[in-house]
Amino acid sequence: LQNGLARTPPMGWNSWNFFACNINETVIKETDFAFTADALISTGLANLGYTYVNIDDCWSKVTRDAKGQMVPDPKTFKSGIKALADYVHSKGLKLGIYSDAGKFTCQVRPGSIFHEKEDAMSFASWDVDYLKYDNCFNLGIEPKKRYPPMRDALNATGRSIFYSICEWGVDDPALWAGKVGNSWRTTEDINDTWVSMTNIADLNDKWAAYAGPGGWNDPDMLEVGNGGMTYKEYRSHFSIWALIKAPLLIGCDIRNMTAETKEILSNQEVIAVNQDPLGVQGRKVHSNGTDGCQQVWAGPLSGNSLSVVLWNRCMQAATITAEWNVIGLEAGTSVSVRDLWQHEVVLNNAVASFSAQLDAHDCRMYVFTPQAALMGNVM
Ligand code: DGJ
Repeated sequence: LQNGLARTPPMGWNSWNFFACNINETVIKETDFAFTADALISTGLANLGYTYVNIDDCWSKVTRDAKGQMVPDPKTFKSGIKALADYVHSKGLKLGIYSDAGKFTCQVRPGSIFHEKEDAMSFASWDVDYLKYDNCFNLGIEPKKRYPPMRDALNATGRSIFYSICEWGVDDPALWAGKVGNSWRTTEDINDTWVSMTNIADLNDKWAAYAGPGGWNDPDMLEVGNGGMTYKEYRSHFSIWALIKAPLLIGCDIRNMTAETKEILSNQEVIAVNQDPLGVQGRKVHSNGTDGCQQVWAGPLSGNSLSVVLWNRCMQAATITAEWNVIGLEAGTSVSVRDLWQHEVVLNNAVASFSAQLDAHDCRMYVFTPQAALMGNVM
């Protein structure tokens, strides 16, 4: 959606993957959203670009008020959403909210279908910056019809609001959502397992050609730090999500992150790939071995560089090779290879191919920069 937003994929945090609906008095009060905003600042994550603090399902009362307005659940948001937005804005961050293109949200709070205008007005009057719009209780109406009215209603408020379409990949959104939302889900929900994460990476890959500044494929939010995968698996999850220009929405409790989780989420060089202004989604360009478990993913970056991930999805160690022809380089091109997890150039003049030995479920992520002078010699 060309509304001036999402020139690069959005970055921030969302409550769902860790807290789900447990945003009640004892678990995550309004103040805990504020604490999360504080934690984004104190951990340095905000400085790295994670600026959205996004509320997911269960924030609103079960019924609308007498005037038909959505009302924040006073158990969770005593001072209202506007007060939280003010707090979040005072920290230089942005606030996201959630509703549903149906009669109810998935957790049976009021949905916005047929209330798009008044709800968009409420969100804008609370100074909200982002709306995630879910797909439950959708009355069997196709997403193509249910999602544009909220786009128009948000637009009519005059406030810039990122529009995240969460239709779970129903009806091939890449084919129509580019004019509707700033991102669209390509699959069902992620869960905190290797199997879910790898499946989603593959399903999302099919739609790579449709992503770009203004509108991104959304393979769902990050599970890094939630405990269901190993360090290497989370590093793969984060590397691939960065390379495929996915929204980087943290889904763990950042107030209580381990050092490893923080290291992964804070990798500035990996984030830079995700936020590269060219905005081209990287793809799986090669696979071999059992079930294609030895994989190369790659995509172009601005300035003629390439981002390359060697990904070992096999159950045992493997050597994986990126051949120049599969990543889109002329055979004679000499490149410098920078390892984004070791934070150093590991080879100055790689030609024709580059290989690395990887443990099971590990990945390496690189930026390949062609050396223009040598390229001249070859040509
Ligand atoms: C389904 C969505 O896909 C999830 O990300 C989350 O928002 C839940 N609904 C909330 O009920």
